[in-house]
Amino acid sequence: MTSENIADSMRNRAQLIEMIGGYMAAHALGLAAELKIADLIHDGVCTSADLATATGSHEPSLRRMLRLLAAVGITTEPEPGRFGLTDVGAQLRSDSPNSLYAFTRMFCHESHFRAWLGLDHSVRTGEAAWNHVLGQNIYSYLADNPDLSALFNQAMSQEARISAGQIAAAYDFADVKSVVDIGGGDGTLLAAILTANAHVNGVVLDSPSGVAQAGDVLAAAGVADRAEVVAGDFFEAVPNEGDLYIIKSVFQDWDDEPACALLRTCRAHMPDAATLLIVGSILPETATSGDPIMFYTDMNMLVNSGGRERTESRFRAMLEETGFAVRSVSPRAAGPLSLIEAVPA
Ligand SMILES: C[S@@+](CC[C@H](N)C(=O)[O-])C[C@H]1O[C@@H](n2cnc3c(N)ncnc32)[C@H](O)[C@@H]1O
Repeated sequence: MTSENIADSMRNRAQLIEMIGGYMAAHALGLAAELKIADLIHDGVCTSADLATATGSHEPSLRRMLRLLAAVGITTEPEPGRFGLTDVGAQLRSDSPNSLYAFTRMFCHESHFRAWLGLDHSVRTGEAAWNHVLGQNIYSYLADNPDLSALFNQAMSQEARISAGQIAAAYDFADVKSVVDIGGGDGTLLAAILTANAHVNGVVLDSPSGVAQAGDVLAAAGVADRAEVVAGDFFEAVPNEGDLYIIKSVFQDWDDEPACALLRTCRAHMPDAATLLIVGSILPETATSGDPIMFYTDMNMLVNSGGRERTESRFRAMLEETGFAVRSVSPRAAGPLSLIEAVPA
């Protein structure tokens, strides 16, 4: 082997080992979030000794974890045993406007790690590992675990808080009077739309556990007088008086059959003149390296709910099959999320 070959081989080896270490980093991130390490560092508790006292941890072990987190770009260690936060790590603060604290806790929660242990089941059968490992589907599991459900809703809200502003800015609401956010969770997106568009009223529809915090979110945004919260099953019915029906980050939860059933329910209840707006990721036709987040989500949907991300051609086929005509596709119009506008055919 030449020295060049050896260098290549060492690089490839390191790259693979780093990928394997991803699960170790994810566990460390989840624990750092649980322990509120980022809040403590932000408040000036910076040495591993003080952080260990504040969190009731074993100092030498906490320090090793913080050094791993420094190595992957979450903390900094400007001098031995003293820690800071990178901009990426600062997102673990629970109280900042761009916080991903609940998001991190949710996706690094034991239930997710356990579900992923069933990956082989999903890959062999196409079924959700979550159901196989945890004994019920994710949304009934959340309904039975209200604390986890509140964390899930907060996690969704933290993601939606950023994209909601982008959607409110990217879509033209001038001719819209009434928005229905289907599977709208705690109302974060609806609150952003109503805040940005004083002429618009809205409804957020979700399961009883999904909308549990929506009243508070809409009231806190000062738009409760123009918003209605509806607890229901979107496979059964959706409100029939909207003129814009939004489905954001919901479609990918479901495999094609239930996803088409949801589209048919929308088609059956929405007025002929209404518009459907699907907001989510669009997978490229072929996968290349360098932008793995939507592929992580795609697999996470398989594992958690038996769902999937979709390519544009798949979206089009499903919309056409369920009685819609695609009016426009705006790739990555809201950050990484795309907008697909469809109308009753
Ligand atoms: C991935 S979350 C997305 C929430 C929100 N749209 C967002 O972007 O943050 C999917 C939502 O679908 C809701 N959901 C799942 N099954 C439902 C059903 N049968 N009827 C109504 N809502 C449902 C969940 O409660 C959850 O809030």
